[in-house]
Amino acid sequence: MSAPASPRREADAPGGSIRRHVAFSSAITALGGLLFGYDTGVVSGALLFIKKDFGGLSSFQQELVTSLLLVGAVVGALGAGRIADRIGRRKTVLGTAAVFVLGVLLAAFTPSYPVLLIARVIIGFAVGSASMIVPLYIGEVVPPRFRGGFVSFNQLAITSGILVSYLIDYGLSSSQNWRLMFGLAAVPAVLLFSGMLFQQESPAWLVTRGREDQARAVLRRVRDRGDIDAEINEIREISQRQAGVRELLAPRVRPLLMVGVLLAVFQQITGINTIIYYAPSLLQGAGFGNSAALLANVVNGAINVGMTIVAVWLLDRVGRRPLLLTGTAGMAVGMIVAALSFLGGSHLTGALAIVAVIGLFFYTGSFAIGLGPVFWLLIAEIYPLKIRGAAMSVATMANWAANFVVTISFLTLLNAVGGVGTFFLFGFLTLVALAYFWRKVPETKGRSLQEIERDLSVEPVEPVQAVATQ
Ligand code: BGC
Repeated sequence: MSAPASPRREADAPGGSIRRHVAFSSAITALGGLLFGYDTGVVSGALLFIKKDFGGLSSFQQELVTSLLLVGAVVGALGAGRIADRIGRRKTVLGTAAVFVLGVLLAAFTPSYPVLLIARVIIGFAVGSASMIVPLYIGEVVPPRFRGGFVSFNQLAITSGILVSYLIDYGLSSSQNWRLMFGLAAVPAVLLFSGMLFQQESPAWLVTRGREDQARAVLRRVRDRGDIDAEINEIREISQRQAGVRELLAPRVRPLLMVGVLLAVFQQITGINTIIYYAPSLLQGAGFGNSAALLANVVNGAINVGMTIVAVWLLDRVGRRPLLLTGTAGMAVGMIVAALSFLGGSHLTGALAIVAVIGLFFYTGSFAIGLGPVFWLLIAEIYPLKIRGAAMSVATMANWAANFVVTISFLTLLNAVGGVGTFFLFGFLTLVALAYFWRKVPETKGRSLQEIERDLSVEPVEPVQAVATQ
């Protein structure tokens, strides 16, 4: 589905040093993804001990500690795009890292429950902001042919952050030190801040600000010599064509905004975080012992990381669409298998328990190879430069809002319709998502962001046409 290679793209074969440079810069920036994963994952284990320290918290008070982060993330995602378009990508990452440090230290040293809630909202601002600025920055700095893999360092970092948080929760559970569980996140936050001080601003953003000399200096480090002038000319040309944020609702952008928002919503309403946040409780409820449930959870987290590594490797080889479509089909299979295993009742034993766990593992692995990384990658690729930050903000915000709705309603849903009904519902929604992706999601592999922008706005070829004429 990708466009045939253009002569310019052929020349776009950075040498080892360019590759090393962008790999290093992507890895530093992806610490933002690590913090995203860690801060969303750590709370499940920490809650067990927080509730004791504050003299017993009600379920609602516990839910607030978890979900206020998501509310903060909606706000952070909304603000960060506008800020990134205005002050630049690099300064936005620096600001985000500073907010992370502030939030996690406040959580670690909190004197009271209300202050902990404030800290969770502040951490949420940073998580929401990081979730859009990291793919945005990496996407603009790396050369097209590596973009899929390097932008997906972000998803790899998210999944690693989740896994590390499970392990740290487990490791600190004997000392019950929930303050340290929160506070340890200050380490990657400080690393992100200091690492970013040595990174360059995004060349695309510099050109939109008329700072072409600086953009050229940055590009000299991350592109082949022959590509630099052409890229600057292209960026200049497309950035002159648009009117600014009002463009977000212009007829030629609206369908793309829809694609980003629906990818975001589908990423959440197909149920990933009901597994990420609740798997141990789900498995305990189905009759697993404590340690079997925790072990299955760690294995699930490891599968999530492992399959994301496979995705990083494959995204620039086979393209985004094949992974998205195969992965989403796999998610539907996994969910339906899990649902079937609950048909005989909510208490699982013997073979049925194994089938349920295999279904969930298969589901997570399939998410990790497709919809997990592809959502964050595509929203960094499909929007016109001038409004890229703002459009990504809208999609990211939709992701956090959908996450919030699913997370807050999941346990109620489970009580109302049981495991069978809940998992069949997620399976069905996954099939709807698959049909939508099949029809509307464009392939972006191997093309420069400028080429994608041109293709998606004028007389595109299939499957891009489906998007542009929606
Ligand atoms: C999603 C998160 C999810 C994570 C799991 C991300 O792509 O946006 O909501 O927790 O993947 O790996």
